[in-house]
Amino acid sequence: MNHFQYKNNVLHCEEVPVADIAAQVGTPFYLYSTETLTRHFKAFDQAFTLPHLTCFAAKACSNIALLNLFGKLGGGADIVSGGELFRALKAGVDPRKIVYSGVGKSEEEMRFALRSGILMLNVESHQELETLQGVAASLGVTAPVSFRVNPDVDPKTHAYISTGLAKNKFGIPIDDALHSYLAAREMKNIDIVGVSCHIGSQLTDVSPFVESLQKVKVFVERLAQAGIHISYLDLGGGVGIRYQDEEPPLPAAYAEALEREMQGLACTLILEPGRVIVGNAAILVTKVLYIKQGGKKFIIVDAGMNDLARPSLYDAYHAIQPVVQSSGELEVADVVGPICESGDFLSRGRKVAVCAKGDLLAVMSAGAYGFSMSSNYNSRPRVPEVLVKGHSFHVIRQRETFEDLIAGEVIP
Ligand code: LLP
Repeated sequence: MNHFQYKNNVLHCEEVPVADIAAQVGTPFYLYSTETLTRHFKAFDQAFTLPHLTCFAAKACSNIALLNLFGKLGGGADIVSGGELFRALKAGVDPRKIVYSGVGKSEEEMRFALRSGILMLNVESHQELETLQGVAASLGVTAPVSFRVNPDVDPKTHAYISTGLAKNKFGIPIDDALHSYLAAREMKNIDIVGVSCHIGSQLTDVSPFVESLQKVKVFVERLAQAGIHISYLDLGGGVGIRYQDEEPPLPAAYAEALEREMQGLACTLILEPGRVIVGNAAILVTKVLYIKQGGKKFIIVDAGMNDLARPSLYDAYHAIQPVVQSSGELEVADVVGPICESGDFLSRGRKVAVCAKGDLLAVMSAGAYGFSMSSNYNSRPRVPEVLVKGHSFHVIRQRETFEDLIAGEVIP
């Protein structure tokens, strides 16, 4: 359920007509619904009955207004860089609710995390562990550590976003991980607090989650036999959403399946959802610049692959709807952006509403990995982000200016 609905053929975000916002902020822009974000966060978080912490995956959408909202709802943050840590802290997220994932943390990033007093760092290699020990010793602190184990489970998702297979760069193979824990136990400035695991994104079936939890559970028992007792089990993110006709598990079914497996494990569960919270809570609004009939019909819009990379990068499906519904007539066309690449498309060969120059289109389900993956390619200023709440809206990130584009550049 989301709050992007037509009222008298006009698309609204909650109580605000989308066209009114476009008239004030210009196009393109990302548009988020507070009600939908809140509802999705709560539906996910409240589905769990065991002790748990929901750390929103900041990479999915890192605007501080959203991180602040989830923080106020009791959530934390899953971060993967010093920049995301900076954002989470600026947003007021409690550092004791921040977990730090990622295969390539730099020493500076480790220092920042340790100084900030975050809950734990998910370590992914022996060299990273040794580096962290050195950084923690130099600061005279103890680093709270969980190792990310790689369970070698197929998440059955797009190859680029599958992370829990042996061939993926992530984590320590689960069968070798005991060595890492034993080594960490001997390190003076390392405090073992957990085990973590994340197998991929946009999963539409619970069984890979269950399979990996079963493997992790056996591993946690092995740790206990070795005298290592953990406080946190971090199961990552990955629950998919409906973009087209997928049937992902509902949060309740996902939580129930995990909690069934968790029986007997006395640790706090950590979850790192991203897409399932924000994916269907935002749209990208764009304007038709031109229509042209070449070898096929092209609808040229003012948003490109730099604004929303997912169609070009993963061949991802995003529904495209008119902001004002008219005849209801459909035609086959490619919806393409202004970028100088043939890979710059929002949809290809699909039936879309017949439209005309100047019409507004809504690219649906654009909240996750939409703005956060946008770039300045072709020297295009990044677009604004707007947050609606009831009858009002706020620009939570201004449109970039040409001056922003060259900030920091110098001619020697
Ligand atoms: N935790 C870790 C360690 C992750 O690597 C990720 C996502 C998440 C949590 C959140 O996963 P989610 O709940 O959002 O599925 N750019 C791609 C998705 C990349 C996902 C990377 N990791 C896309 O647009 O589909």
